[in-house]
Amino acid sequence: MSRIAYVNGQYVLHGEGAVHIEDRGYQFADGIYEVISIDKGRFIDEEAHLDRLDRSLDELRIAWPMSRRAMKLVMRQVVKRNLVRDGLIYLQITRGVAPREHGFPKKRMQPSLVMTAKTLKPAPKDQPNDTGVAVISTPDIRWSRPDIKSVALLPNVLCKEKAHAAGAFEAWLVDGEGFVTEGSSTNAWIVTKDNQVVTRDFDKHILNGITRQAFVKLMAENGFTLVQRKFTVAEALAAKEAFVTSSTARIKAVVSIDGQPVGNGHPGETVARLRALYWDAVEDGGPLPKTPTDIREKH
Ligand SMILES: Cc1ncc(COP(=O)(O)O)c(C=O)c1O
Repeated sequence: MSRIAYVNGQYVLHGEGAVHIEDRGYQFADGIYEVISIDKGRFIDEEAHLDRLDRSLDELRIAWPMSRRAMKLVMRQVVKRNLVRDGLIYLQITRGVAPREHGFPKKRMQPSLVMTAKTLKPAPKDQPNDTGVAVISTPDIRWSRPDIKSVALLPNVLCKEKAHAAGAFEAWLVDGEGFVTEGSSTNAWIVTKDNQVVTRDFDKHILNGITRQAFVKLMAENGFTLVQRKFTVAEALAAKEAFVTSSTARIKAVVSIDGQPVGNGHPGETVARLRALYWDAVEDGGPLPKTPTDIREKH
């Protein structure tokens, strides 16, 4: 079966989808994106993702290319046309096409919208043979607004590549003061020896991951002690457990940092408990609220 993409109003063969060479996304990375996981045909935490998309657009003063309701209809079409039951949908919106000038174009822009979907193998709830993943640490070389889910991902790409070259799954990004901000495409967490779960507070130096928000909620509802504060790599190495979260990775135990073991070097019970809670919540469309926090329709 051929993959189908949605590109600016048309459903086209994936391999034939194209945007204009003066699209500002192509020229300046002047755009934003979202990745939403699909589990048994359901979007996981769809409204939270669309809320964050709304926030990213707002921060960059890019208009919605269509109403939120229409966007949801197109999303369903893309998933249907690609026969995706478990996998993800990718949404990208850029400011649109204009002659190459750094400043925003004077004329009213029609933002570009691209959507693709793909099937992924679902991760099982019970993972008895889970060996966890390795991470490396590396300086956070990104711009100062990683809270905006912009398509300008070159620093993330370089850091991820560095991790892969070292045989690791992820790179933990370390700010100028020695604190871990997050991973190149995941949020970072540790579990201290006295069972406090620690993750950086949402201070604009991280992306407020939807999966991060989902776990914050699950922890509050299930008696975990969560502290949202900065932590260093040294503290992570002295921790009992560490893990990363994202829409596609969901939750993965981190068993080593820069080649040194975390805890006993094996996935721990906190991650196993959290995984079970998340998998259960996903059955119901995800842990986060199912209504938009901002119900205004924007055009
Ligand atoms: C830098 C960064 N942090 C965190 C995340 C996790 O976000 P989410 O849970 O919304 O997928 C991502 C996901 O792409 C990311 O790119």
